[in-house]
Amino acid sequence: MKVLKALVAPVGAKYTWTLLKISPWLAGCALLSGMAFAEPQSPESRIDKLLSQMSLEQKIGQMMQGEIKTITPKEVSRFGIGSVLNGGGSFPSKNKGASIDDWIDLAEAYYQSSPTLADGTRIPAIWGTDAVHGHNNVMGATLFPHNIGLGAAGSSDLVEAISRATAIEVKATGIDWVFAPTVAVAKDFRWGRTYESYSSDPQLVSRLGVAAVKGFEAEGIVATAKHFIGDGATQRGRDQGDVRSDLETLLEGHGAGYVSTIKAGVPTIMASFNSWNGRKVHGSRQLLTEVLRDQLGFGGMVVSDWNGVGQVAGCNNASCAQAVNAGIDMLMTPTDWRLLQRRVVSQVESGEIPMARIDEAVRRVLAVKANYGILDQGSPRDRVTQELKAKVGSEEHRALARKAVRESLVLLKNNGGILPIKGNAKVVIAGTGADDLSMQSGGWTLTWQGTENSNSDFPGATSIYTGFNDALAAMGGEAILAADTSQDADVALVVFGETPYAEGQGDIENLQYKPDDHVDLELMRAFKAKDIPVVAVFITGRPLWMNRELNVADAFVVAWLPGSEGAGLADVLVGNVQGLPRHDFVGRLPFAWPALDVNEIDDSLPVDRFVWPVGYGLTYAEPATVGSLDEKAAGSILSADAVIFRGGTQSPWANYIGDESNWMTPVSGSYGKSAFGEFEVKSVDVRLQEDARQLTWSGAGERDTQFYWMTANGRGRDFSELREKNGALTMVVMMTEHPEGTTYLRMDCQWPCSGQVDVTRLFKVLPLNQWVRLSFPLACFAEAGTEMDRVNTPFLLVTNHRMSMTVLDVAVVETPDQDSLVKCR
Ligand code: BGC
Ligand code: BGC
Repeated sequence: MKVLKALVAPVGAKYTWTLLKISPWLAGCALLSGMAFAEPQSPESRIDKLLSQMSLEQKIGQMMQGEIKTITPKEVSRFGIGSVLNGGGSFPSKNKGASIDDWIDLAEAYYQSSPTLADGTRIPAIWGTDAVHGHNNVMGATLFPHNIGLGAAGSSDLVEAISRATAIEVKATGIDWVFAPTVAVAKDFRWGRTYESYSSDPQLVSRLGVAAVKGFEAEGIVATAKHFIGDGATQRGRDQGDVRSDLETLLEGHGAGYVSTIKAGVPTIMASFNSWNGRKVHGSRQLLTEVLRDQLGFGGMVVSDWNGVGQVAGCNNASCAQAVNAGIDMLMTPTDWRLLQRRVVSQVESGEIPMARIDEAVRRVLAVKANYGILDQGSPRDRVTQELKAKVGSEEHRALARKAVRESLVLLKNNGGILPIKGNAKVVIAGTGADDLSMQSGGWTLTWQGTENSNSDFPGATSIYTGFNDALAAMGGEAILAADTSQDADVALVVFGETPYAEGQGDIENLQYKPDDHVDLELMRAFKAKDIPVVAVFITGRPLWMNRELNVADAFVVAWLPGSEGAGLADVLVGNVQGLPRHDFVGRLPFAWPALDVNEIDDSLPVDRFVWPVGYGLTYAEPATVGSLDEKAAGSILSADAVIFRGGTQSPWANYIGDESNWMTPVSGSYGKSAFGEFEVKSVDVRLQEDARQLTWSGAGERDTQFYWMTANGRGRDFSELREKNGALTMVVMMTEHPEGTTYLRMDCQWPCSGQVDVTRLFKVLPLNQWVRLSFPLACFAEAGTEMDRVNTPFLLVTNHRMSMTVLDVAVVETPDQDSLVKCR
């Protein structure tokens, strides 16, 4: 350490951040061995020297970050680009099964084509990735519990060890930078990113955030605290929404994780998509410069979020002087990086962006690269050893993840001391999550939303069932994986919960767990009816209102999103043959557990009545009996609205395409096509990523093709009250090609029960390429034959000719916007 100080001592006070942040990697390998710094140079003068050789375009190139799908290594070299990222669910050659060598090869290609200055210095492009619960885009990597589970475990040492292990797996793929940790303080659990937040307690977030930064730092991986600021504080918990508060409240409630990670030397901070009092953070000089730099003292690099600049008023993805002037140093512009680069050049030439601002930004980018050894570390192929590669998904890392699972479990109820289960017991294991690695892992897993994965996509992982099977078999017990209650057993373990989601698509309207689908509840009741005690294991990204489920289960364990090492559950839930615990519970609620599904007074505010406070959690050592909870939801008295599609398809609805060859082709993910190929649906970005659907019919009049939302279980929902209150089916659409043939909007009450309205004339007169809201009174469909007490398909569009449109929002609502009402005849 002394050597380090001596070397960097003469540098001016202006760059204290640079001084303090010599990375351990550099310290160990480069500085001390004296290799890379043959002629000791202060970081400051080194950066000066680099800057002095750069053209304006090269400088601005350093500020650009393109996505690996839309920037080739050649382009990195040609345009002098500073950084690339792979977004959630983006892999080398678009191959989900890409091997570690495939990742390294791509990193190598970017490295080899990185821009070179006149004196021959190569400035490697820095590659960033969302390693948010392990190196989660890489098949076979260790998947740790999401932050919510680590918040429950509450251990700084554990978090530090996990981010170290993650950093090692990231390094093994030739990648330098992680977009983690998230230091959001989630306040309203309707937010689909609640599980990325450690806790609602700013102090806990701040402590664990520091631990995560230290772990990455220890391995020389660039960390990012995100998303600055207020992402967890938006109205209604809407992703990318608006935060209304004064600055003091904002900083007090949501700033702690930045204050502490800045102190710990976090090198980069990501700006947040949300607005503050109606204005996007990405364009706010007040927040990004006055507060973040001047007040909080951040000296590192600010990176924008995915096309976040395009959301600033007056900007688009390819042009936003305001964001650069506000203080963004690195522009995450996945596809439009080239246009943006040109635009920034001309904005500097015209004086709209001061040259000093560019120099400042590029200095920060180069400082990160210098401090983390990126300028000196050599090529990925040379530096990633066999030994390092073997760390990806290694036994050692999986053991750490399993420990984290054990420590993150929270025991809400254990009436009659049903847990731990005796090691020699016969246990029937049921429920949708029993043997489902994708549910266990949640969003940001292989794919962006964590959907479209199956167990075979998780080599080396252990499901919850497998963990029980191994534990019980070893002690003379038995685990039976069952879909129903036909098996007899000493105890039933019902594993159920949320299916994967990520940003935007995970937002919900209220905290009720599966309001329209009681399969889990019914399953538990059925075991109880057979006198088999029930242990509920709940997989979830957030606390939810589920008093019915809590009441029926004898024991209730919250597993959060445990990741690849499901065996951690059996470690704690299965005792020895005498029924004594092998491990006790240590997890505590990181968020309070809601006593209601919505705030009764004002449904735009978070729920404020709780069953259990932050910090609650039973243990074997200190048992307690939990009484019966009130099963009446508040939400139903507020509104019976059914949101079908907003940000993404909402539960219990599912999206399908139909034609005579297959009336029910499910649309999963971002693309779907009808069996005959005369219809296509694509996800497009309007307000959030992939929050709209572009529908294109291309038939020639031969056959009908339908696009529709139906309940996932096919069962009907009762809209009769909504119909009596003059409710409507409302939607926000943009016509992009008028219908050529007859077009119907249909509402089915379990086909052939159905009612339809002819929308041909209406659609023909809608202005092209303009958003409109249309509301069709439920009465129209009722008159046409829809039985309102059992609607299972509230929206079905069908035509046999050409037509194209984009759909943004679909809901059945009690009070439609009067101006949007359509007359049925
Ligand atoms: C998310 C960030 C993420 C980025 C890159 C954005 O949509 O908000 O958290 O780091 O994408 O994948
Ligand atoms: C139903 C099919 C039916 C088709 C007819 C679909 O919504 O699911 O069973 O044949 O409509 O248009």
